[in-house]
Amino acid sequence: MVRVMPDHTDEPPATHAPKPRILTGDTPTGRLHLGHWVGSLETRVALQDEYDCYFLLANMHAYTTRADKASEIRESTIEITKDWLAAGIDPEKSTIVLQTEVPAIAELTWFLAMLVPFNRVMRNPTLKTEIEDKGLGDSYSFGFPMYAVGQCADILAFRPDLIPVGEDQVAHIEMCREVARRFNQVYCGVDPQTEDAGYPAAGGLFPIPAAKIGRVARLVGTDGKHKMSKSLHNAIFLSDTPKEVKKKINAMYPGQSRNPDDPGDPTINPVFDYAEIFMRDKAQVSELKDRYRRGDNLGDGHVKAAVIEAVNELLEPMRERRAKYEGPNAEAEVVEIIRAGTDRANKLAEETLAMAKDAMALNFGRRELRL
Ligand code: TRP
Repeated sequence: MVRVMPDHTDEPPATHAPKPRILTGDTPTGRLHLGHWVGSLETRVALQDEYDCYFLLANMHAYTTRADKASEIRESTIEITKDWLAAGIDPEKSTIVLQTEVPAIAELTWFLAMLVPFNRVMRNPTLKTEIEDKGLGDSYSFGFPMYAVGQCADILAFRPDLIPVGEDQVAHIEMCREVARRFNQVYCGVDPQTEDAGYPAAGGLFPIPAAKIGRVARLVGTDGKHKMSKSLHNAIFLSDTPKEVKKKINAMYPGQSRNPDDPGDPTINPVFDYAEIFMRDKAQVSELKDRYRRGDNLGDGHVKAAVIEAVNELLEPMRERRAKYEGPNAEAEVVEIIRAGTDRANKLAEETLAMAKDAMALNFGRRELRL
C-alpha cells in the first residue's frame, strides 16, 4: 500500500468539503443481522448521497477480546464488508476504511488517552455491560478498555458531523464528544463555555459530532426475549437464505398459546414487533392486529407468513447484490475495495493528525507516509 501525504497540496483541505461528513463502523466479530440493519445500517445506506461517508472496519477492536483468533477476525472483516456491499453501501459513493491500516488512528488514540481520566473510561456503561455480557470478569486485556479511547480516535480522525449508531454506542459517542471538547479547549484555546455547535468557529480542530440513533433502538431476537445478537443464537442474518428466514420466524413463540378464534394480545407477541418494523403496508399491520385482538380466525401461522414475506422482501435485493461477490475472485475484489477506500481515508486522517500535532506544539515538520 502506498500512502503519500504531501506537505503542500493544491487541493482544498477536506474541511471545506461541500458535504457534511459521516463516520461510523462495525467490529468484525461475526456476520451482520437485522438488528444491525434497523439500528444503523439502514441509516448509513440512506445518507450516502447527502453525506461524505466513511465506514470503518474496526478490526483492531476485535483483537481486544480475541487476540488469539487472527484468521477468524480476517474472515469476519471480509464477511462484514460483503454484508455492507450487499446492504447497499456503494464504494463509489462511500469510503470503506480498514482501521489497522490507518496509523493516524493509533497515534491519536495515545494523545486522546491523555485527555480522559482512567476512571472515566472505566465508568463507561457500554464497557461495563460488555464485561458482564461477555463474561470477561477481571481478566480482560489492557487493550479492552483502551478500545473506548480508540473509538474516540476512530471518529475524530475523520472530523465528522454525524455518527449513525445503534443505541448501545451512545455512551462511546458521549465520551468522544467530551474528549473533542477537551482537545479543543486544551490545545486550540477554545473557551469551555462555548456551545457544541460553536467549536469550529471558535478555533477548535474537532467539530463536536452528534450520534444519530437508528429507527429501532433495540430489536428483539427470535427468542422473543433478548436483544438480537449472534452470540445468543436469536439472530436473522442479512445473509440468511429465504428458507432460513422462514424456519427462524416459524419457530418463534408467539408469547401466548391460542387458537385462531381466541382473542390474542399482539403486544406480547414478538412476531408483531417484526410486523411493525418490517412490513411496509401499515394498514395491513393494523388490520392483522385488530383481527388478532378479536380472535377473528387469525392463526399465528398467518401473521408469521406475512412477516416472513416482508423480511424476505427486504433481504432479496441484498442477496442479489451479494451474489456479485461470491465468485472465485470475490475475496480479491473485496480486498481491493477495502484497500482503495483505506488509501482515500488515510489522506483525511493524516491531515487531521498533522493538524492535531500542530495544535499540540508537535510541529516538527509534517511527515510523508510512504511504504
Ligand atoms: N464499537 C462499535 C461497535 O461495536 C464499532 C465502532 C468502532 C464504531 N469504532 C467506531 C462505531 C466509531 C462508530 C464510530 O458496534
